[in-house]
Amino acid sequence: MATIIDGKKLSKKVLAELKEETDKLKQRGITPCLAVILVGNDPASKIYVKNKTIACQEIGIDMQEYFLPEDACECELLDLIESLNNNENVDGILLQSPIPPHLNIAKAFSKINPAKDVDGFNPINAGMLAMSYPIFIPCTPLGVIRMFQENNIQVEGKNCVVIGRSNIVGKPMAQILINKGATVTVCNSKTKDLKTHLLNADIVISAVGKPNLVQRDMIKQGAVVIDIGITRLENGSICGDVDFDNVQQVASYITPVPGGVGPMTIAMLMNNIILACKNRR
Ligand code: GUN
Repeated sequence: MATIIDGKKLSKKVLAELKEETDKLKQRGITPCLAVILVGNDPASKIYVKNKTIACQEIGIDMQEYFLPEDACECELLDLIESLNNNENVDGILLQSPIPPHLNIAKAFSKINPAKDVDGFNPINAGMLAMSYPIFIPCTPLGVIRMFQENNIQVEGKNCVVIGRSNIVGKPMAQILINKGATVTVCNSKTKDLKTHLLNADIVISAVGKPNLVQRDMIKQGAVVIDIGITRLENGSICGDVDFDNVQQVASYITPVPGGVGPMTIAMLMNNIILACKNRR
């Protein structure tokens, strides 16, 4: 039976450590500040932003919210980013994705000052990670690595399969694992025979958003299984990509959804804001 990695508990520990950091900064008269930009009315994004607000309040980070309407034009968004880049009080800038389809998200992420890019989505930060000189590492993959560290899960020399190739999770996750000396396979919805790849994996990380994609008969005995999928079911509950009840019988470690990687993402955002603040001031 797998050990369940409790992301909620670990995130509380990380947030308590980070609060000590913000307390120290406050003694020097410094309060870290995050600016969040939300464009349009995506309901899931509103929930994510609310959770980020709560975490900022808990550990003493100032947060400014900027709302743009669904039909905002590109220049409005880019001008807002420019003004936040130039605002001396702002340490971190987060553009909540997704944004409405008429806006170019790659262009917007590229506009964020790399020194304030606490999500790590600016091409400079993505490139530095690819070159093994990371500055800001995207929060979700960073949260997974912290879970490994806390549980003494070694990555070097392991066969890792990442399912999903998004810029936000799959790609940076794969880059980090490559940098740590793992042998990494990145699968996606077009992959032929996912099961063959998964059966060879010591570590499986799924970030797709497809309930029950990862089944017990696809997992090698003793593998580590990390579930980053989030799907809201019709009854309102949230579930991951992994058939948790069955897979936990063969895995050595497993993360639940909810209460796994999700809370760690927010804790790592707080980590990156404090890092940006310290680097800047
Ligand atoms: N949308 C889903 N996850 C994230 C994230 O980590 N950061 C941002 N900015 N948008 C997201």
